[in-house]
Amino acid sequence: MSAKWLGKCSSCNQWNTLVEEVIEKENATTDWKDYSTSTKKNHAVLLHDVQGNTEKRIITKDIELNRVLGGGIVLGSLILVAGEPGIGKSTLFLQLGLKLQNLRVLYISGEESEQQIKMRADRIQIKNENCYLLTETNTSNIFSEIKKLQPQIVIVDSIQTLQTNLIESSAGSVSQIRECATEFQKFAKATNTPVFLIGHITKDGGIAGPKILEHMVDAVLQFEGDRHYAYRIIRTQKNRFGSTNEIGIYEMDAEGLKVVNNPSEILISQREENLSGTAIAATLEGMRPMLIEVQALVTQSVYGTPQRTVSGFDLRRLQLLLAVLEKRGGFHFGVKDVFVNIAGGMKIEDPSIDLAVICALLSSYEDVPLPANICFSGEVGLNGEIRAVNRIEQRISEAEKLGLEKIIVSKYNKKNLSSKKNNLQVLAFAQVHEVYQHLF
Ligand code: TYD
Ligand code: MG
Repeated sequence: MSAKWLGKCSSCNQWNTLVEEVIEKENATTDWKDYSTSTKKNHAVLLHDVQGNTEKRIITKDIELNRVLGGGIVLGSLILVAGEPGIGKSTLFLQLGLKLQNLRVLYISGEESEQQIKMRADRIQIKNENCYLLTETNTSNIFSEIKKLQPQIVIVDSIQTLQTNLIESSAGSVSQIRECATEFQKFAKATNTPVFLIGHITKDGGIAGPKILEHMVDAVLQFEGDRHYAYRIIRTQKNRFGSTNEIGIYEMDAEGLKVVNNPSEILISQREENLSGTAIAATLEGMRPMLIEVQALVTQSVYGTPQRTVSGFDLRRLQLLLAVLEKRGGFHFGVKDVFVNIAGGMKIEDPSIDLAVICALLSSYEDVPLPANICFSGEVGLNGEIRAVNRIEQRISEAEKLGLEKIIVSKYNKKNLSSKKNNLQVLAFAQVHEVYQHLF
């Protein structure tokens, strides 16, 4: 906002990027105002005297969604679901609506026609006689329908398509999004009805769009994945009623999204044995241990500037690991093209994958395959030291469950490891070069 005329935006220094948005409050009463409690005045109370009550939750049949929400949908909560277009948001939430058999669900769509949604519902193949559909974008019409129907769960697909009479700007503009979300927030709190707001974001996280709502909603779920792969991950970015460490994993097939119970099994099952350049990492995504295959390809560079290409791994992290190998191990990656790929289109944030990346790189560099039944878990520091990772026992038991025989970890992890007998051999090293000597 600016008090005077500006030609150039003061934050991005670009000309002609400022747009005028008229914010005009009408006196019209919309239906949410009936729900609004703004006339009630609150007084300061002693925290000690406040009656605590555990929030009531709706436990859905979708165990992954229950997990990311911290154990079910909290009544009266406003939940933002953000994701790129085409990732499967509409599918997941139509599916959710259909699965909640004994609740009155209202699915509001501003993007698709009733027929389109029906077609999608037919693909998902779940029968439900309690799921209502409303194709409408005007919030005052929406709230008058809501008043008639009294739904127990509301799904809005998507927040960018809604429009309120209170503000005169086009749908999808910042002030429209904010105002429409505020109306749903008031509705959710006043009636104790959970509301899901679906929002599109762009590849780089989305600037204007739904990000501006993060502070006013109770939970933010990020839906991600590569459209070319079947896997979709739902991550909690914010949750007032649970941990933000959780993820849910789904697989998209011809009949909608299916819950993936054992991600590791799928992620390492398609492995060709005895090929150089692959290594298995024992990672932890959220609270969940997951074994993931890392692939690396190191080839002689044909151009002057060697290429570094990654998929599912941070490019700068790769450059750092290559610098460590160059400086501490004397490997000449400076004349090589390097490609790193995480199997299944997964994006890994856990730094414990470092050691597996390094071993995959070395295996490809030397063109020597790693033993088939070995996995790695360790963060690598700038001096080539292997750092301890958290929850090592969970990772070990996951590796054991999948029939691996050896895991390589940091020597600092070994110290804290309970002396419980594992079938899996745990090898601990302090430095990357020790691992190298052990393997090659
Ligand atoms: P959609 O839910 O429309 O994505 P969003 O709402 O996030 O924009 O679905 C995206 C893709 O999913 C679409 O390209 C088709 C595909 N899809 C399937 O593969 N199987 C299915 O059963 C359904 C319903 C969709
Ligand atoms: Mg959609």
